[in-house]
Amino acid sequence: MIRLDGVGQVFDGREGRVTALEKIDLHVRGGEFVTLIGRSGCGKSTLLRLIAGLLPPTSGSVAVADEPVTGPRRDVSFMFQRPALLPWRSVLSNVMLPVEIDKGSDRSKAAYRDRAHQLLELVGLQGFERRLPHELSGGMQQRVSLCRSLIRDPQVMLMDEPFSALDALTRTELSEELQRIKMELSTTIVFVTHSIEEAVVLADRVVVLTPRPGRMRDVVDIDIPRPRSLAQNAYVTEVATISARLHALLSEKESEDRR
Ligand SMILES: Nc1ncnc2c1ncn2[C@@H]1O[C@H](COP(=O)(O)OP(=O)(O)OP(=O)(O)O)[C@@H](O)[C@H]1O
Ligand SMILES: [Mg+2]
Repeated sequence: MIRLDGVGQVFDGREGRVTALEKIDLHVRGGEFVTLIGRSGCGKSTLLRLIAGLLPPTSGSVAVADEPVTGPRRDVSFMFQRPALLPWRSVLSNVMLPVEIDKGSDRSKAAYRDRAHQLLELVGLQGFERRLPHELSGGMQQRVSLCRSLIRDPQVMLMDEPFSALDALTRTELSEELQRIKMELSTTIVFVTHSIEEAVVLADRVVVLTPRPGRMRDVVDIDIPRPRSLAQNAYVTEVATISARLHALLSEKESEDRR
């Protein structure tokens, strides 16, 4: 579903050149859940922006669904760390925003409206359709943002630390919801997180990036049965063991760099 071959990204900033990513070869299968971890500044957000078509790579190629990425695609959604809702629009019309911006949508507006109601129900926000964002908690706003990124049934969801500003409980709930959605809709997901444990609980595969420039340090398969939870996890030991291994991988690179 997603192919990055020999991808590199160099920025010419005011402070000189920054090589953000180098030699990234990543293939993500349809329906797969991949999480990306690595230190701050290692190029995780850049990698998502490349897949989203928000940035052309300086080298290598990026393809989605066997087509070279040349710009944003209707079937690829992007979810940010902050909900970024329009404050003057109701919950429902925030969810409907992508449909309204893109006039070439393939379904009728009424069908999308039904879908929006369905999604809001799925994340426990039925009855809140007419509220304004400021009337909701941060976690509820992020749920609205999740619905918005699902409204057009994306084939691919790119998620940049979407739950990191949330309290632990909400985070656990949303990560369970996301797994349910993924299993139900077989969406392909690339998810960036700073939490190693979250990366393990969510992923089919965890990609570990090295500090700048970001290269692929390792790819770890997670074979733990689903559903998995950050809370009552029947597989606490498995999650802890893999998390410890990933932790070691991340810090190992740092000591190599210091030499
Ligand atoms: N538009 C840009 N112009 C210049 N440099 C940039 C630009 N975007 C990113 N960079 C640089 O590229 C590197 C990677 O940035 P990126 O935001 O992808 O890191 P990240 O892994 O997402 O970090 P964090 O975990 O803190 O979100 C950083 O050094 C950053 O300063
Ligand atoms: Mg980032």
